[in-house]
Amino acid sequence: MEKTEISNYEYKILDYIKDKKDVNENSIGINENERIISSSISYLEFKKLIDVRKEYKKTYSITDEGEEYLKNGFPEENLYNILMEKKELAVNEIKNYLNGKYKIAMANLAKLGIKPVDGKLVYNNNSLNNIFIESKKKLIEIKNKKYPEEKKINEFIKRGLVKEKNNLTRIININNDGLNALKNYENNDYIELLTPEILASGEWKNKKFRKYDLNSRVESINGAGLHPLTYLIDEIRKIFLDMGFTEMRGHYMEYTAWNMDMLFIPQDHPARDLQDTFYLKNDNEMEFEDPEILKIVRRVHEKGYKNYPGWNYKWSEKEAKKVILRTHTTVNTVRYLYHNREEPQFVFSIEKVFRHESVDWKHLSELYQIEGSVYSKDANLSTLKWLLREFYSRLGFDNIKFLPSYYPYTEPSMDVIVDINGREVEMGGSGIFRPEVTKPLGLKSPVLAFGLGLERLAMIYYNLNDIREIYNSDLNWLKNYKIRF
Ligand code: PHE
Repeated sequence: MEKTEISNYEYKILDYIKDKKDVNENSIGINENERIISSSISYLEFKKLIDVRKEYKKTYSITDEGEEYLKNGFPEENLYNILMEKKELAVNEIKNYLNGKYKIAMANLAKLGIKPVDGKLVYNNNSLNNIFIESKKKLIEIKNKKYPEEKKINEFIKRGLVKEKNNLTRIININNDGLNALKNYENNDYIELLTPEILASGEWKNKKFRKYDLNSRVESINGAGLHPLTYLIDEIRKIFLDMGFTEMRGHYMEYTAWNMDMLFIPQDHPARDLQDTFYLKNDNEMEFEDPEILKIVRRVHEKGYKNYPGWNYKWSEKEAKKVILRTHTTVNTVRYLYHNREEPQFVFSIEKVFRHESVDWKHLSELYQIEGSVYSKDANLSTLKWLLREFYSRLGFDNIKFLPSYYPYTEPSMDVIVDINGREVEMGGSGIFRPEVTKPLGLKSPVLAFGLGLERLAMIYYNLNDIREIYNSDLNWLKNYKIRF
């Protein structure tokens, strides 16, 4: 076994207790301050060189109020003295005395047998003086740490004249390993603490330094940390920024025009249903920011674009001006590209969307989407597939699949599927914007787009079985979460 190294202080303590029994840590007669003794004892205990027994002891001290009564007498004592002098006191007269303490005084005097009769206190030759003197004596005893009987102490505590403290003291005994350590101790006159003085005087040059024990166990502390979802968002943000993408920002509140109509989602589409979308009350008709664009959108919805036929229904501007909580962040892409039409564009966002949906193990009604888009004349379906594979593989997922899918605004469309332990989980949608979408925006080249679920990803990233666990605020998980890889 390796020799247990001990410090100079630890040596002094071991040496002091080596032939004593049950030494109270407060009575260790070495010439060091309490803090050093106390921490050295903890080290000795940790090194298993001493046996430690903990004793809890109550101590008592006098409160400010107790001190005041010691000096000026108990209120009941003072009342009693006045009564002794006047023989009789009307109750409503008493408040003129005793600086507001007359209620306490009367209550305590009543306990000693002097109670008002017919609105008067009457002196009855009782001698209470001894009782007061006795009480004060006991208060003084407490002050001097010589404690009277418990009943009296409790009475004082109840009156707020004494307060109690629970003190821990350690009773220590040296053990065999301690005796050995003592025997093997070499006084090398180590420097334990490097101070500016030791450095300045050059004293350190001829001395040895006490070694650090790098293996010593330290208590783990939980400092502040990132919420797992925030951590993942940061990782994702880094990946897109590394790939040269720009982050776009959107709004929780949107016109259906931007969220739906601009994306060629027909006005009778089931996703617009009250069952799926949160509509906001909108009494003061807001001005739509670009009325011109609505005209183009109407034409595309009603009649189509070139040889694409449109939906062939009567498009309603009123419907388009409804305000909702955005249902997807594809609306961010649409807005961004409308305002940034020069090629190429590489954009992403990681933001919240809202769906009127019931919550279960893989659905939330408020969730984050990882949205992205590439606008470039060179972009095509292979680019999109590469991009999604690259994104997931940078997060550690190499096992992704694409399934043909349908969205009103993309053609072709693909869903992204991740295989987790044999279970296929749909991560989101993607595709190339239809001309019915790009035309009103004034975009000439292909636009790739994707929208992926963040919480679903978090589920597999953190190995969760239920998407709701992310928002449960389970402290143990928040402190100790581990990523899958
Ligand atoms: N907006 C779609 C959704 O919310 C995902 C998607 C984005 C699909 C972009 C195609 C293109 O599920």
